[in-house]
Amino acid sequence: MRNLPAILAAALALACQSASVAAADAADKARSARGFGSAEYEWGTIIPERAEAMRLTADPVRGKEAFRGCRGCHRRDGAGVRDGTYPRLTGQHASVIIKQVTEVRSGVRNNPKMDPFASDHAVSVQEVVDIAAYLETLESVRENGKGSEDRSARGRELYVGNKCGKCHGDYGEGNAAEVFPVVAAQHYGYLLREMVYIQGGTRGNSHPDMVKAIEKFTMDDLEAVADYLSRLPDYRTVAELKSKRK
Ligand code: HEC
Ligand code: HEC
Repeated sequence: MRNLPAILAAALALACQSASVAAADAADKARSARGFGSAEYEWGTIIPERAEAMRLTADPVRGKEAFRGCRGCHRRDGAGVRDGTYPRLTGQHASVIIKQVTEVRSGVRNNPKMDPFASDHAVSVQEVVDIAAYLETLESVRENGKGSEDRSARGRELYVGNKCGKCHGDYGEGNAAEVFPVVAAQHYGYLLREMVYIQGGTRGNSHPDMVKAIEKFTMDDLEAVADYLSRLPDYRTVAELKSKRK
């Protein structure tokens, strides 16, 4: 953090939580001028700041320090908030964290609430890379938010039937090299919200093939699949799961 002290970030985040949720939600619903649906948007584009980030060497120890400015919302342990207001960042691929933060900074992905705290005035590109390496290895000890009832059977049917695993993996483990996010064990509320944004074209960054994959999903379908993903274990236990199946 260069300009914004962590204490200010934390205090602001708490004070503004309910008021800014509504404001941010309204702003989120607008399409990003540079994002999905605009003439210049192409999913595979590596924006200059991400290209720069990819050339840097990450230092997770410095990342832990730099993460101080993010803790007000994503919490001290990086596990976010159970209701999904703030996503869990622990265990997310570093490549995905870098993609998301740089795309928010460049205005491709909409995230007005986080903007001032993750801008290049607040954290340098080097710090973004360091934070990403730090978060990738962290485990969440707190339980994540799930749907109100277990819909995982229907959710699994939709996930498998629509080949979501082609990108996000059979265990929701994503793909670091292809920059596809981990979706296993994320908070239900966040998963649902992101799918609604992606379906409606308002997230800013979205893979066109994913938009097609969920095009026909009803709200009930989205809820079931969000519930299924929220109930999957941390993907890092996948090796353990596979060995049990044999
Ligand atoms: C004021 C609150 C706030 C602060 C501080 C904040 N964030 Fe966020 N962050 C959010 C919100 C809200 C979202 C989810 C946005 C949405 O719903 O699309 C988010 C989403 C993210 C995501 C996307 C996760 C995903 O799965 O796609 C990443 C990565 C992220 N934040 C990293 C950071 C980092 C790194 C910092 C510190 C430099 C930070 N955030 C500080 C509120 C905040
Ligand atoms: C062609 C690859 C692809 C397919 C198929 C796909 N997705 Fe995605 N999905 C992505 C990418 C890429 C993102 C992140 C958007 C970005 O960075 O541009 C994403 C984001 C998400 C998110 C939000 C995750 C986060 O951390 O913000 C959820 C939830 C999700 N996908 C669920 C699904 C489901 C359910 C299906 C099947 C119906 C599906 N996806 C099919 C590529 C895909």
